[in-house]
Amino acid sequence: MRTTWTFHSAGQMVFGRGAAAQLGELAARMKLRRVWLVTDRTLVAAGVVDKVRGPLEAAGIDVALFEGGQPEPSLELADECRAAARQFVPDGLLGLGGGSNMDLAKIVAASLAHGGASRDYLGEDRVPGPVLPLVCVPTTSGTGSEVTAASVLTDTANQIKVGVLSNYLRPRLAVVDPLLTISCPAKVTADSGIDALTHAIEAYTAVDNETFPLPAGERTVYQGRHPLGDCLAEKAIELIGRHLVRAVRQPSDLEAREGMALAATVAGLAFSNVGVALVHAMEYPVGGAVHCSHGAGNGLLLPYVMRYNLPGRTRQFARIAQLLGEDVAGLDEPAAAERAIAAVERLKSAIGIPARLRELGVGEDQLRGFAEKTFGIKRILRVNPRVPTADDIDAIFRAAW
Ligand SMILES: NC(=O)c1ccc[n+]([C@@H]2O[C@H](COP(=O)([O-])OP(=O)(O)OC[C@H]3O[C@@H](n4cnc5c(N)ncnc54)[C@H](O)[C@@H]3O)[C@@H](O)[C@H]2O)c1
Ligand SMILES: [Fe+2]
Repeated sequence: MRTTWTFHSAGQMVFGRGAAAQLGELAARMKLRRVWLVTDRTLVAAGVVDKVRGPLEAAGIDVALFEGGQPEPSLELADECRAAARQFVPDGLLGLGGGSNMDLAKIVAASLAHGGASRDYLGEDRVPGPVLPLVCVPTTSGTGSEVTAASVLTDTANQIKVGVLSNYLRPRLAVVDPLLTISCPAKVTADSGIDALTHAIEAYTAVDNETFPLPAGERTVYQGRHPLGDCLAEKAIELIGRHLVRAVRQPSDLEAREGMALAATVAGLAFSNVGVALVHAMEYPVGGAVHCSHGAGNGLLLPYVMRYNLPGRTRQFARIAQLLGEDVAGLDEPAAAERAIAAVERLKSAIGIPARLRELGVGEDQLRGFAEKTFGIKRILRVNPRVPTADDIDAIFRAAW
């Protein structure tokens, strides 16, 4: 039984409209002279990269641009990015983009510091020590990667998403500027936004810290539900209920963009200490096989997994319903809890997340294989409040198909 919990974050967070303008000063305080900026061509074309490179260069910092970032990056791309970075000999890295580019910067910061290939770090606690100084600047409101301990990559050969999990991967600095998310297309806003909701709900309903089933002698980043995680998850769920639909429908609504930017970071703080659970474990094989976005896969699966988890988490689901703005006055706890699932389903359809796995191109014959692969992802599954068998997972996949 675990009786203590702890909390990790980015070393420093700077949040607010126009915060990116402070990057020169902030990087100079970190004593950075040569920064490897990991981003992608879409963000160059959208003018987002200039807003970050400009302040760095104005502070006299040499910036080299890696603009080859891709959605859901592969292990091979991470190795390519490291090989290119090595020629430049940076003293720090900056990940600019959604989770994809930030995660690329994170794994490269680790492998530049400690050698080897990206694959060597897969799993939990395999990064042996501090990584190169790392700054993350999100341009989506979703993953929370700017504060988390994870780098998620795609293992193309085995058709599955894989993760590197280590507190050494937490960025030294996170600069969250909601203005950088304005150019996010509706689909990216929707997919990343519902990913943030999934983080918050999985953290809020995770197994309790006191009963977290951690094998003796094993260390872990995820610790199960604890009071600080709950505070953060509640805040994130409430913000997403209030702002996500608006951010998708009115891209330039600054209040909604700011609300979502805060929600994503706060949800990242929650889940990266408490854990994500069955939804994420089920998305890994789906995303690895059909290459849907991580957010679309998670959003699609979320209500189906909520239904499976409902029996042991009625009180938390009732509270989630309330936080999402449902009128639960006069309802008993089970009825209010049902409203949480209904609210998530309504939110999903309002922002255009597909309702069925077949719409993502999944074939019925793939479901058993997905269930088996999910069942193997023990480090995430043990965070789930209910312990599923491979058959349980198969049944959830079939319901969602
Ligand atoms: N590290 C973590 O803790 C963590 C957590 C959850 C998910 N993830 C991973 O993060 C990835 C998903 O990240 P994401 O949802 O942020 O999307 P993303 O990074 O994959 O970006 C999706 C697309 O949106 C574009 N885009 C991003 N911001 C834009 C902007 N402001 N304007 C115009 N275009 C923009 C990108 O160029 C890209 O083409 C997945 O690989 C997922 O597994 C990581
Ligand atoms: Fe996620």
